Amino acid sequence: MLRIVVLVSGGGTNLQAIIDSMAAGKITNTEIVGVISNNKTVKSLERAKNAGIPAVSVSPKDFENRDIFNDALLDAVNEFKPDLVVLAGFLVAIPPKMVAQYSNRIINIHPSLIPSFCGVGYYGLKVHERVLERGAKVTGATVHFVNEGMDEGPIISQKAVCVEDGDTPEVLQRRVMEQAEWILLPQAIDDIANGRISVVENKVVKKI
Ligand code: GAR
Repeated sequence: MLRIVVLVSGGGTNLQAIIDSMAAGKITNTEIVGVISNNKTVKSLERAKNAGIPAVSVSPKDFENRDIFNDALLDAVNEFKPDLVVLAGFLVAIPPKMVAQYSNRIINIHPSLIPSFCGVGYYGLKVHERVLERGAKVTGATVHFVNEGMDEGPIISQKAVCVEDGDTPEVLQRRVMEQAEWILLPQAIDDIANGRISVVENKVVKKI
């Protein structure tokens, strides 16, 4: 059984997609052992509690500086003894110590086709704003392992989504979630839980 901890910052629709996929049997051999949010009052914590999953918040506001927060975040993750850490809309930089300890055991969902529209400053709605500003016709989502770079780890899966005339960032965000994110992230977890994914020379190899 793969023990996963899900880290969230906001609405938690990706967390919900994971919870629903588990209930529907689309993710197997997996247990969500905890949810951690960097905010105290987010919908995600409510979603976790409704599903009977232990949920805690670790907010940078409660710590004197970033290093102390980073250590507290790593402690909170370690408490749950996870096999895999899932960043489901977690908009905080992952401390290098955590990346080192969980090498190839942290995955992230990003709302664009990496290496486009990613890196520092590209998160949440901002990504979709930039896509529309640039006039891109295709965008999408990517699930990748997390390494020490920002959105630079080995890519697990990607799905393209069309940009349509008249899109607002909110409308585009919703389409990318519905057509890509809520499908890709549960799939990646199921693949990892069932041993279908390995990393070879910094690239993901999938066994069919
Ligand atoms: C999602 O679109 C996710 O891809 C994005 O934040 C949103 C969270 O939504 N993550 C990033 O931008 C990470 N760089 P949710 O809280 O409803 O799942």
